[in-house]
Amino acid sequence: MDPSRYDLMTPEEKEADVMTLLDQTQESLLGSDGNREQVGKALDRLFGDLNSQRLSCGHEHWQSLIQHCRNHPLLTTLHHDPFTGRAFAKPRGYAGDAELIDLIYGPEDRMPVPEATQLGLDIYSYTTSAPAAEGVRARRGFIADLIDTTTNERPGQHILAIAAGHLREANLTTAVRRRRMGRFVALDSDPLSLAEVDRAYGPYGVETVPASFGVLITNRLQIGSFDLIYSTGLFDYLNVNTGRRLVTTMFEMLKPGGQLVVANFLPGIRDIGYMEAFMDWKLVYRTRQDMVDLTAEINEADMQHLALFAEENSNIIFLHVTKK
Ligand SMILES: C[S@@+](CC[C@H](N)C(=O)[O-])C[C@H]1O[C@@H](n2cnc3c(N)ncnc32)[C@H](O)[C@@H]1O
Repeated sequence: MDPSRYDLMTPEEKEADVMTLLDQTQESLLGSDGNREQVGKALDRLFGDLNSQRLSCGHEHWQSLIQHCRNHPLLTTLHHDPFTGRAFAKPRGYAGDAELIDLIYGPEDRMPVPEATQLGLDIYSYTTSAPAAEGVRARRGFIADLIDTTTNERPGQHILAIAAGHLREANLTTAVRRRRMGRFVALDSDPLSLAEVDRAYGPYGVETVPASFGVLITNRLQIGSFDLIYSTGLFDYLNVNTGRRLVTTMFEMLKPGGQLVVANFLPGIRDIGYMEAFMDWKLVYRTRQDMVDLTAEINEADMQHLALFAEENSNIIFLHVTKK
């Protein structure tokens, strides 16, 4: 549907339009009977139309449309998908836990298929191929390549991952398997996530630090200095002030010539409407300018180089800063 169509609608017309969309999606999903193409078509329309609605209305009206989504039986149907259901349920008490992110990496890493109904798996196949999930996989690939390139050039580098989750980029690097890095430290506030890092990558020398990044910012924890410090899947939750303080802290923890990398979702991604309505997953989306703003408190004279890269599908942006 033409997204500009919504700009001409009254709030009542938009509400009626959403209700029709929800009813028709529900009917199509429940009648799909293992037909993945039918599920894909229904979800394509749901993702596209919800996001167009979101973009065409103010914050309050969008919140009221979200309530319609939450009150509709389609919510229960969509939660047959383990990815959508877990994001909404937040069993660890916060959004985006490492088990959830494993549901995105799972098909690529040949992890066991999650338990779900046939319809749930059909929806899962769609949601984990959608742009946000594609972006998360591309983000991991970018970091894995960076680790391999830098440790190939100079073996023995000290690397720190902040909000490491399960550190699944380690599955894609040869640096870890061949122990080409000096130290590789995974910091995360969730001890359950780090238990998995210890299990999977501890034997290759990866160290874990169970702590919030807050203790780094306030200087309450000294864990050394590093050649590469990166953070993926964290800044999407941070406001600009916290984001700036963390980028400055990361910069201060770099050795001379060291590099920091921060990833963030870009604002144009089509999944946002679905994520907010059915996954209760609200992120901070950043433009290129917003990413540069994160460096505002770094002393200009100490910076060697600043660059921005978008991953191949332009869903995620990386800030890359090197220190003199
Ligand atoms: C979306 S996951 C990203 C995991 C991994 N970096 C990746 O890209 O796959 C977000 C991670 O941030 C961690 N986290 C959330 N708040 C944190 C904090 N204050 N300090 C450190 N880690 C935090 C969570 O425990 C979770 O593992």
